[in-house]
Amino acid sequence: MAILFRVTTGSPRIKIVNLTHQKGSLREGEPVVLVDRKDREYLTCLDLKRPILIRGGTINVIDVIGRDEGSVVRSSLNEPFLVFRPSFPQLIPNLPRSAQVIYPKDIGPILIWADLFPGARVVEAGVGAGALSMALLRAIGDSGELISYEIREDFAALARKNVAKYYGPVSNWSLKIGDVATQWEHKDVDRVVLDLPEPWQVIDAAWKGLRPGGILLCYLPTVLQVKTLVDGLRNDQRFACIETMETLMRFWHVKGMSMRPQHRMVAHTGFLTSARRLADGQKDIPRAP
Ligand SMILES: C[S@@+](CC[C@H](N)C(=O)[O-])C[C@H]1O[C@@H](n2cnc3c(N)ncnc32)[C@H](O)[C@@H]1O
Repeated sequence: MAILFRVTTGSPRIKIVNLTHQKGSLREGEPVVLVDRKDREYLTCLDLKRPILIRGGTINVIDVIGRDEGSVVRSSLNEPFLVFRPSFPQLIPNLPRSAQVIYPKDIGPILIWADLFPGARVVEAGVGAGALSMALLRAIGDSGELISYEIREDFAALARKNVAKYYGPVSNWSLKIGDVATQWEHKDVDRVVLDLPEPWQVIDAAWKGLRPGGILLCYLPTVLQVKTLVDGLRNDQRFACIETMETLMRFWHVKGMSMRPQHRMVAHTGFLTSARRLADGQKDIPRAP
């Protein structure tokens, strides 16, 4: 049986402001990223009860609260750090995790190729540390609805904690613990985003849950998984516009006269496969033999 956790904090009369959208000077309880002189990032939260332990020194939280983002703060060892609210690309790689999170380089294309929009009704699985969940929540906005499935209760607990701590209160997120392939309950869904090892097991449930024209997008790390998925979608014959892609992102070193690609890159993460649900009972689908 699926266990439902509706994550609701805050009264509906109070306007919920997500932590990622905050402006103004830094406040207690907010997540911040500290950046050292070598651009290394340290993610933490402003908790008055806990000094920030960083690179062998400490920073008193009281010295950070009330400062503007982009201020320089110094540790007890007099080492300077810049302090910001974390942007999404700063947050995700530094997020406490259980399973592998989806990298920002893939989250960007996922949001566009799954055609996420404010107000969308979305089913997501698996949740892992909740990195993608936060991106989906941000894309659908307060008027959308996100229903997430995670098979492991301990992973779901971490995701819930991460979302509360680094994203903020949400009233439009339901986190279900269970196998999405067998426990899917929702109809009339606009988008389905899957980050789990065997998405072909979910094709039938996704077809039943999606509205006609809805989009299924799957993230997979290996080509054999992609082949099994695409063969499954083609054989099913109830999806069209099936596309597979990957994103390569290479950062550059730009300093003085030295301009070149950085020596290291995250060369491979995963492939995205998207497909659109057909209307019920379609025959004679235009398709090359
Ligand atoms: C790679 S992790 C997801 C990471 C997540 N997208 C993120 O960005 O943090 C894959 C997750 O899928 C979950 N999972 C695997 N099979 C599942 C299924 N059939 N239903 C629901 N969750 C599943 C795993 O427990 C794991 O947490």
